[in-house]
Amino acid sequence: MTKICCIGAGYVGGPTMAMIAKKCPDVQVMVVDINEERIVAWQTDDLPIYEPGLLEVVQEALGRNLFFSTDVDQGIRDADIVFVSVNTPTKTFGEGAGYASDLQYWELCARRIKEVSTSDKIIVEKSTLPVRTAEAMERVLHSGDNPVHFEVLSNPEFLAEGTAIEDLEDPDRVLIGGHETESGQKALQTLVDIYATWIPRERILTTNVWSSELSKLTANAFLAQRVSSINAISALCEATGADVADVAHAIGTDSRIGSKFLKASIGFGGSCFKKDILNLVYLCETYGLQAPADYWRQVVAMNEYQETRFVTTMLRSMFNTIASKRIAIFGFAFKADTGDTRESPAIRVCRELAGEHAKVVVSDPKAIANARVELSDLLDQIGFEEDPYAAAEGAHAIALLTEWKQYKELDFQRIYDSMAKPAFIFDGRNMLDHQALFNIGFEVYSIGKGNKTHLK
Ligand code: UDX
Ligand code: ADP
Repeated sequence: MTKICCIGAGYVGGPTMAMIAKKCPDVQVMVVDINEERIVAWQTDDLPIYEPGLLEVVQEALGRNLFFSTDVDQGIRDADIVFVSVNTPTKTFGEGAGYASDLQYWELCARRIKEVSTSDKIIVEKSTLPVRTAEAMERVLHSGDNPVHFEVLSNPEFLAEGTAIEDLEDPDRVLIGGHETESGQKALQTLVDIYATWIPRERILTTNVWSSELSKLTANAFLAQRVSSINAISALCEATGADVADVAHAIGTDSRIGSKFLKASIGFGGSCFKKDILNLVYLCETYGLQAPADYWRQVVAMNEYQETRFVTTMLRSMFNTIASKRIAIFGFAFKADTGDTRESPAIRVCRELAGEHAKVVVSDPKAIANARVELSDLLDQIGFEEDPYAAAEGAHAIALLTEWKQYKELDFQRIYDSMAKPAFIFDGRNMLDHQALFNIGFEVYSIGKGNKTHLK
């Protein structure tokens, strides 16, 4: 029986291992983490992350061939294949601070693997890492005199939060990078065989390690670039009277462009886009490629501009002062169907509103706990109400920041009646019926479209 150990029971490791365990009943999957609370939660009905459909997948395999443990060393020792899926945040200190990845968790894992292993292993890099990390890891793994052989593969994760289960069940592609040596190719084949249990062989792409690593950064940079591109156009639409949804539709029907990822918004968030682009920027600079570095950096700069522009629109339209005004935030997660708030545009928006001395009240169906942590230094200024009706009561404005579908179903007449007048609504996701809101009496602002106002 093949034994897999995954180090890191987070947004990537948890769902990915649960899917492998579900699809491959004859493979034993052990997920280990130093965070005991997380390990306990994975074995309850209240999983540590919210992801539609995940609970069913976990429960199908839990105790059969899917196990969770805090015994990292034992997990490593028993395994034939070790996935490393620990967090790699952007460095906050020293060289490359604000750009490069903080690799200390990865390196700690590599050292641990080297120390406790008594048999040959395949090590799979699952976290997003800078190109050539695998090579550095190999050096760590093969330093000293442990005779065990480690073969390192790169297998980047392309799942998106909120649709992780669909993405894992039926991915566009799986990418595996391995060395062109005999042992590299053998290891690569072992991993291909696992995925081939449920994924058509032609969708499993194999490359060398560095192409695989760079493909992950490039995929996220291209996706983020599309969002920044349409957001740049949204500003121009607001200035000229064009409608960004019409523009997106018109260009998206060109099959060379395609229709996905063209939704103008308050900006992109999530643990990957910004981090991966900055990683790419750092990499370009490391190789003396200043123009490519500046090119990609601008995608992030555009995103920050879009977040700040949203707050500026709120301030200008509300008579240039929001001090002491109650503002209800609808949605704090970086996208719908997740409780994840990492790099959520809502963070900057709430901070800037609080900076203007507004009374901010955050509501969200799944992300309140994480929102409290993100804004922990502002708890005297920011309130939390899971229920959007309660958040909006007495408010001067609503800012919709996450496209939770339940926000479409709200009784906006009831909300309007409970608010201070004039009642403003800023739809940062262009998801509501703006004409209907205007007819109720709202002052309606959105992204890349004309405003609807009763004020003259
Ligand atoms: C992304 C990649 O899609 C995934 O392949 C990779 O493995 C991890 O990073 P994720 O961050 O989970 O996934 O979410 P994604 O759906 O890509 O959305 C990222 C951000 O862009 C969100 O804040 C989303 O709201 C925003 N977005 C997306 C837009 O503003 N407009 C769009 O048209 C699409
Ligand atoms: P991702 O979105 O990449 O999955 P997360 O932060 O959700 O990131 O998950 C990473 C997990 O890795 C965390 O639960 C963290 O506790 C775990 N982790 C970090 N370093 C180690 C380590 N050295 N050994 C075991 N687990 C680790």
